[in-house]
Amino acid sequence: MAGRHGPKVTPFRQRGTTFRKPVLRLFTTTLWEFPSQHYLDYEETPGGSVVRTKALAGVQGDPKYEGATPSWVIWQLLQRYTAPGESVLDPMCGSGTMLDVAADLGRVGIGFDLAPGRADIRRADARRLPLAGASVDFVFVDPPYSTHLRYSDDPACIGRLDAGGKDGGRAYYDAMRQVFAEMHRVLRPGRHAAVYVSDSCSDGRLQPIGAELFATLECRFEPIDWVCVVRHSATLSHGGRASAVLRTGLLQRGFNHLLIVRKATRSLSTQPRARKPRTR
Ligand SMILES: C[S@@+](CC[C@H](N)C(=O)[O-])C[C@H]1O[C@@H](n2cnc3c(N)ncnc32)[C@H](O)[C@@H]1O
Repeated sequence: MAGRHGPKVTPFRQRGTTFRKPVLRLFTTTLWEFPSQHYLDYEETPGGSVVRTKALAGVQGDPKYEGATPSWVIWQLLQRYTAPGESVLDPMCGSGTMLDVAADLGRVGIGFDLAPGRADIRRADARRLPLAGASVDFVFVDPPYSTHLRYSDDPACIGRLDAGGKDGGRAYYDAMRQVFAEMHRVLRPGRHAAVYVSDSCSDGRLQPIGAELFATLECRFEPIDWVCVVRHSATLSHGGRASAVLRTGLLQRGFNHLLIVRKATRSLSTQPRARKPRTR
């Protein structure tokens, strides 16, 4: 509970210092920030006191997995858009962060990935999921942002497609359009989906992936919110990164996009809305 001197915090030891990780609460604006990748397993009782909900300190997903989603982002989404017992899907589940948050909150997590990071994630291409239509209550996805990271050698990995490639990113955006079509198929009408993504820079040019993907989502879904998630990466302040900013004139990516949409309760048209083709 917020006191006279700001929010109650829980101490957390990190690299020899005492770092104070706040108790996670629902955010109320479109600017989201939390000073850690993981939340602790504390929550507030209706009476306002803070209690520990699990025996172990909170870690969700694999902290060593490069490209893992900050678990508190998924916590915010599941708290806001789902209820206990409902099914929540991550079709690109990586190290399973979504499954751990779902378990913490009493939701039924369903995870797929081309290169599953653990046994409770099933292998599938996010464009062809082995799920019935209108069968899940929420979808979260944190897809590859172009070719930043090498996730696997699987030729179907979308992380092999360059959003700023010679084809103008056509293959990357077409693959993501197919992922969104599949998310739309398996989601129950009236329920929400969220896409967590970063823009990218290559060869001194900005690839505005967040804006492109939001426009692609709008061809099938109703737009609900567009959240700016502040990045807390130690590498952002490295000297090499600063000199790259001076060299290229492009700023470092200080935030990720969180694109929130909803599947309409009734189909207004039999065709997805047309989207202007990319001209680059
Ligand atoms: C940014 S990571 C996801 C991280 C995950 N949310 C976590 O917290 O660990 C992107 C994931 O997309 C997966 N991926 C790439 N192409 C895919 C496809 N066509 N179908 C399913 N998964 C795919 C990669 O294997 C990788 O695990």
